[in-house]
Amino acid sequence: MMTAHDIFARATIIPVMTVTDIDSAVSLGRVLYKQGYEVLEVTLRTSAAVHAIEELRRQLPNALIGAGTVLNKKDLQLVTTVGAQFAISPGATPDLLKAGREADIPLIPGVATVSEVMQGIEYGYNEFKLFPAAAIGGVKLLKSIDAPLAGVKFCPTGGINESNYKDYLALPNVSCVGGSWII
Ligand code: 3PG
Repeated sequence: MMTAHDIFARATIIPVMTVTDIDSAVSLGRVLYKQGYEVLEVTLRTSAAVHAIEELRRQLPNALIGAGTVLNKKDLQLVTTVGAQFAISPGATPDLLKAGREADIPLIPGVATVSEVMQGIEYGYNEFKLFPAAAIGGVKLLKSIDAPLAGVKFCPTGGINESNYKDYLALPNVSCVGGSWII
């Protein structure tokens, strides 16, 4: 089974796609993939999202298609069923963390505090989405937590843009960044 580590290793920038219909989702996915973005996240924020994940999997078999805004065990089960290859959540609950460990696809839980990372580590996680990255301290925060949380890797998302993404990617505890700006 693929791990969160594998996902992080393949991604530098993860475009966060919020899609309203299947055709435009697939066209967008194709353009992004052609531009070199192999790891794509489709947020579960629209009614088209689940079907779009299914269709993107079919039409872009070499990409890695993940589901974002996965809020609970039910979401995780649903996106697994339709073929998502990984799941990302904006935060984490004990139920979701537990479900993620038992799931057939890797879950990348969202964290905003050191305690949340520590809780995630207790459940066996080492890769996290830092969200909403810019609003909670951004690069400064990541620099501050690198030493106490040695070995933990982050995908900062939320407020990342053209002018700051390189600052994030230069940090030792950042494997990749996510965001909608790239769209
Ligand atoms: C997400 O779901 O990860 C965020 O909405 C993306 O944040 P951004 O729009 O600030 O990039």
